Amino acid sequence: MNETFYVTTPIYYVNDNPHIGHAYTTIAADTLARFHRLAGTRVFLLTGTDEHGQKVERAARDQGLTPQGLADQVVGRYHQLWDRLRIEPDDFIRTTEARHRKGVEDLFRRVRENGDIYLDEYEGWYCTPDESFWTDTQVVDGKCPECGRPVERVREESYFFRMSKYQDPLLRHLEENPGFILPESRRNEIIRFVEGGLRDLSISRTTFQWGIPVPEGEGHVLYVWFDALTNYISALGFGGENSGEGYETFWPADVHLIGKDILRFHAVYWPTFLMSAGLPLPRRVFAHGWWTVEGRKMSKSLRNVVDPNRLLDRYGADAVRYFLLREVPFGQDGDFSHEALIDRINSDLANDLGNLLHRTIGMVGQFCGGRLPRAAEVGDLERGLQQAAAATTAVLREELESLEFHRVLKRVWDFIHQVNKYLDTRAPWSLSKSGDEAGVRTTLYTAAEAIRVVSVWLWPFMPDAALKIRFRLGLAEEDPPRSLEEARTWEVLEAGREVQPGPPLFPRIDEEEAEEIKQAVGRELENGQGAPFSEDAGSAETPRQKGPSSRADEAAAPIDYEAFSKVSLRAARVVSAKPVEKSRNLLSLRLDLGDEERTVVAGIAGSYSPEELTGKSVVIVANLEPRTLMGVESQGMVLAAQEGEQLALVTLDKSVPPGTPVR
Ligand code: MSP
Repeated sequence: MNETFYVTTPIYYVNDNPHIGHAYTTIAADTLARFHRLAGTRVFLLTGTDEHGQKVERAARDQGLTPQGLADQVVGRYHQLWDRLRIEPDDFIRTTEARHRKGVEDLFRRVRENGDIYLDEYEGWYCTPDESFWTDTQVVDGKCPECGRPVERVREESYFFRMSKYQDPLLRHLEENPGFILPESRRNEIIRFVEGGLRDLSISRTTFQWGIPVPEGEGHVLYVWFDALTNYISALGFGGENSGEGYETFWPADVHLIGKDILRFHAVYWPTFLMSAGLPLPRRVFAHGWWTVEGRKMSKSLRNVVDPNRLLDRYGADAVRYFLLREVPFGQDGDFSHEALIDRINSDLANDLGNLLHRTIGMVGQFCGGRLPRAAEVGDLERGLQQAAAATTAVLREELESLEFHRVLKRVWDFIHQVNKYLDTRAPWSLSKSGDEAGVRTTLYTAAEAIRVVSVWLWPFMPDAALKIRFRLGLAEEDPPRSLEEARTWEVLEAGREVQPGPPLFPRIDEEEAEEIKQAVGRELENGQGAPFSEDAGSAETPRQKGPSSRADEAAAPIDYEAFSKVSLRAARVVSAKPVEKSRNLLSLRLDLGDEERTVVAGIAGSYSPEELTGKSVVIVANLEPRTLMGVESQGMVLAAQEGEQLALVTLDKSVPPGTPVR
């Protein structure tokens, strides 16, 4: 293993608020960084924001802000989110910083001095959301071949980079370094792309201003990807006065973590810029998959963009970090759903891990007066656990090297199951009954040690939970593991220390709560609160509505009349209403629709009592597929406006017969 480890995330565009896609890479990078720190490596974790370019300039204009003003606003949200997610970068680079500009200018000069820059005219297509150039033959029906959004015709004077010159050197590099691009399927894609021929790349723009001026290139700003990619070295001080002690120490990066959509920029453009400048290439670029949401692409027009802050409010940093890295292999696409997340919380975190800790601490209380006992005799079962811990630690290292987060976690959970089984087999409660005090002490100390080992492995993934576990086991508050070796060492916990009983580490989310979350999420999405002012998250753009519109208006994509006419809205009279059993927020309404009566379940108990509802005229969606909520079938949905927690039912201002259609 290298004695230094430099890991980067993409730098995020500031035209938009952070969403789970951004959180995903950054959590992975932080986990990797923490792990390498534990392994004794000198680590540098870099993240930051990509603040130049046409896309940011336009977003700012649409919001009546200067690009710098927008960047200053959004960057704070990233800082805040990383804090909440317990992400601890060593540096955060903004491309509008002077130190970055110096790095970019220096890289550009080197490339130019190498004879790889020339002035010409660019004519072709530009995809602003992706900030990428396309030729006539690449564009598909006026749309970007990568993201499917409309492209614009561009014709302007431009500096070009002789990328074509690096086709063969890059191919050679790809062939000689099989680990350079991962996963392998992505590497093959890139090889095919490069074999298909590299064209020279336009690297400056003249039709807008928001970028780093081309050195001695009046009227030109650098192409935003040339600017952005350089962050990986400018943050280390490259191009700065004392030309970067950090650069000398940490470059080349050990791994650039990125999403699969930006692989070409990292696997083709970036290495060829570096080759031209005579600088070493990063050791590895790993492209992870994309998250869909409940089976659909995340996009503003679908109003399903997942805001990590809302996940944090509901589930906390540990569960979010755990879920994202456990649910899906890092290189593959995955699907996000609250159900899947709740399942993981209940089964893996509450049941397996939480319960193991809880029962162990409970028994130390019950049988040992709340103080960690000293192990008496260590037998085969105990030795078996110690060996499993050592073996797991060894494999874990390898699997993290190849970024198999989900495998690592699965392995940790195999061990947790083993410890739970150990407790069941040894059954301290029976040992105690039969007077085998030595057996009780050995078992409980061994279980406590095994959990401590788990806390070492989990520290990179769930730092808060790891600290809490350690505190409960009698270690000091805020006492993180210092080295991975602690997972191989046994008898670290001091006998005689007091353990700390407490509430469950991960409370179970029961059915009712899960249902409430589902309803609240549904309402948020209806109100377009998934990710405020999100322009898009990788799908078709929606025109921004002007004027004092609500968020719901901003989020809504236009639909045609035909689509609207499919919704059957009808007036209904509330015959009776009662709370749904075991639910805090659901009411079951019996509704008169003139020709029939039906039951509709509504999450409105926080705003209305059953009594005040009886006799009211409401409006319902009458042709919604029936759904069972907390055991009651709901045959429609009552319309209501929502402001925070408060709901206001849609009613009619004149009396109409029940069942009257609403249009
Ligand atoms: N600014 C560029 C990166 C420059 S790096 C020198 C950029 N920024 S971005 O904000 O649009 O996207 C950043 C990352 O978010 C990309 O790696 C992208 O893959 C990732 N994701 C965006 N949507 C995603 C999902 N739905 N799922 C997972 N990751 C996704 O591109």
